[in-house]
Amino acid sequence: MKNNSYALKGNILYSKDKSMIIEQKHGFLLCEDGKVTGVFGELPKRFEGIPVVDKGDALILPGFADLHLHAPQYAFRGLGMDHELLDWLDTHTFPEEAKYADPAYAKLAYGQFVPALAAGATTRAVVFATAHTEATLLLMDMLEETGLVTRVGRVNMDRNSNPALQEQSAAASLADTRDWLRQAEGRYTHTAPILTPRFIPSCSDELMHGLAALQKETGLPVQSHLSENQGEIAWVKELCPEAANYADAYRRFGLLGGAGCPTIMAHCVWSDAAEQALLAEHGVWVAHCPVSNADLSSGVAPVRAFLERGIKTGLGSDMAGGYELSIFGVMVQAVKDSKLRWRMQDETLAPLTLPEVFYLATRGGGSFFGQVGAFEPGWEFDAIVVDDSEIVCPFELTLQERLERLVYLGGDRNVKEKYVQGRRVK
Ligand code: GUN
Ligand code: FE
Repeated sequence: MKNNSYALKGNILYSKDKSMIIEQKHGFLLCEDGKVTGVFGELPKRFEGIPVVDKGDALILPGFADLHLHAPQYAFRGLGMDHELLDWLDTHTFPEEAKYADPAYAKLAYGQFVPALAAGATTRAVVFATAHTEATLLLMDMLEETGLVTRVGRVNMDRNSNPALQEQSAAASLADTRDWLRQAEGRYTHTAPILTPRFIPSCSDELMHGLAALQKETGLPVQSHLSENQGEIAWVKELCPEAANYADAYRRFGLLGGAGCPTIMAHCVWSDAAEQALLAEHGVWVAHCPVSNADLSSGVAPVRAFLERGIKTGLGSDMAGGYELSIFGVMVQAVKDSKLRWRMQDETLAPLTLPEVFYLATRGGGSFFGQVGAFEPGWEFDAIVVDDSEIVCPFELTLQERLERLVYLGGDRNVKEKYVQGRRVK
């Protein structure tokens, strides 16, 4: 037994795989040195005497991973969703992000975003900042303080945007990115950079080639957007006529996953069989963002096809295409949209089930961070303690029924405690 050991006692649930949830009523979840020892019905003899935090009848779940969100867009959440993607970027997003050139504004706005993210069920997040080094470092400093484990990207964008936001040239964008990486180096324990070409319409060929070279040099992961909206896809076809599809355009630049280049692509709403095959082949993570995809009238991604092909898939709030940070809300939208898609668009892809969206929120997205998102022995200890007692019911519920109710009727407000890598952060 290691020194740094304790147990959480409560009703423990986690995904074994995409269709199976493991449950342990009034069980013990053991943590040693930030890692899961296991889930037990009785405290094993060799652990007698360790601190046991008894959470009574509460639910204990793995923390959620938010694989795609924009920190600066929290400011205008719930506003301006009467547009599709490209108009929404020009009308709302780029003007707001331009404000983060002012560190005082960034401090004010990120000072609202960061506590909101810290308060909910999310323990891991992959975040877009803006094209500003100082504001991005400020955001990283604030996220570090929360104890969450995050990847944060200073956004690269040197064309087709608001002149107040867009970078002056590919060379300037690359030099500033290197400067940002130098300043971030050695500064954080829980926070790390990720290369972030915004999407192909925002990045010149020269910038994309330069970022691919930087990726090879540093081994950093990459995040971007893919096949979200039909207008966007048509534009990429014009910009990259030689590419077989949008994902292939990233591939040709050397920014689509593969060995040594972990990559998250947000959305993939319109990814067809050929594009899905590329995503599978290159081991790309898809961040499924159904709330955003509804808000911006983008469509509904074929998530079951991703799962059947073995494409690594997690969930994203896509704040503020999505109006809320809650991954509970994202899970609900994912299920509902999959039902409408099945009924109205494609009867070959059955609706997502609750175990499947629970898997996507935990184990599916967590895999981007390594052995994260389930209470398997040796995996990183990320857990939330949830009080669902307000969701009253006159008959007895199973633990999985309580989880289902929690997803639909509860949310981040029910999260009472949060642990990341064994550290209590809430
Ligand atoms: N594509 C390029 N930029 C963005 C953004 O900020 N949000 C979304 N949803 N899609 C994008
Ligand atoms: Fe996005």
